[in-house]
Amino acid sequence: MSTLVSLRRQERPAPRNTAFARDVHAGLSAAVKTLPAKYFYDQRGSELFEQICRLPEYYPTRTEWKILREQGPAMAGIIGPDVEVVEFGAGAAEKIRLLLNALPRPAGYLPIDISGSHLTTAVAPLMRAYPDVTMRVVAGDFTQALPLPAPLPQARARIGFFPGSTIGNFTPDEALAFLRNAAAMLRDSNGAGSGLLIGVDLVKDPAVLHAAYNDSAGVTAAFNLNLLERINRELDGDFDLDGFNHYAFYNPRQHRIEMHLVSSKAQTVTVGGHRYGFDAGESIHTENSCKYTPASFRQLAEKAGFRPAAMWTDADSLFSLHWLALPQA
Ligand code: AVI
Repeated sequence: MSTLVSLRRQERPAPRNTAFARDVHAGLSAAVKTLPAKYFYDQRGSELFEQICRLPEYYPTRTEWKILREQGPAMAGIIGPDVEVVEFGAGAAEKIRLLLNALPRPAGYLPIDISGSHLTTAVAPLMRAYPDVTMRVVAGDFTQALPLPAPLPQARARIGFFPGSTIGNFTPDEALAFLRNAAAMLRDSNGAGSGLLIGVDLVKDPAVLHAAYNDSAGVTAAFNLNLLERINRELDGDFDLDGFNHYAFYNPRQHRIEMHLVSSKAQTVTVGGHRYGFDAGESIHTENSCKYTPASFRQLAEKAGFRPAAMWTDADSLFSLHWLALPQA
């Protein structure tokens, strides 16, 4: 039996008052210009990201799939039967199939994403494929404390699923806050056996990282520049897309890929009536993608109140999936 529950409706405020408009203004007014990476994912940005995931240089997606496929039974052995899976930022809700296939008698699936309409569309085929799994959709920001529907009576425990190394796009402080919040949301569920299965990209040869974020087909560059196109379209901006270049590099001190858009000349840009000056060579920092060692990630998880209990990786140690058990309070 499957049901859909949408807890929050998205409202559409006037463009100038949106969080997007405010965040863009704050980011472009700062001494070191930034734009939040979460705004990459409009319709076009999501399509470009899907293309990125299929690029030969972009190893994280296919490596995580391989680990999930090959190690699914081992993960299922630890997680056990009759769980409700809460997926944080489910998006297209594709990797969940591998987990639902591996788990014995999964009881429920509760994906959370900012876009309720996308989620409902993504979950419809899953409902047909897994008629015995109760599916409830929650529209909302999973980085905030979000009220979840009551645990399913038939579920022994509620577990979290956060694949894709999206945690890498948070600063270490934000990652810690996310883990603490996830722990609190999962702890509210019924009984022992709760935990979080999370995908984490690993520190590796910088050349491999460089290639993954500077692909030869230029898809990552288009993904980065699409943010300016989105600003032009949605916030009445006049960014000249030929006046900015994609620039991505590995910062070894901070263990992260940084993505920037670098102004090729001195120029002024107007967005929603505000003017922003750029020097030649000045950058807008658009994304961090933090990489962890197994030990540094375990340390972070422990700080958030989890007990790292298992980790699976590929033969080349490119990517990892961690099972973080949640001790009962
Ligand atoms: C979504 N996230 C995990 C991707 C990453 O690798 O940090 C976003 C991305 N940015 C450029 N390529 C992919």
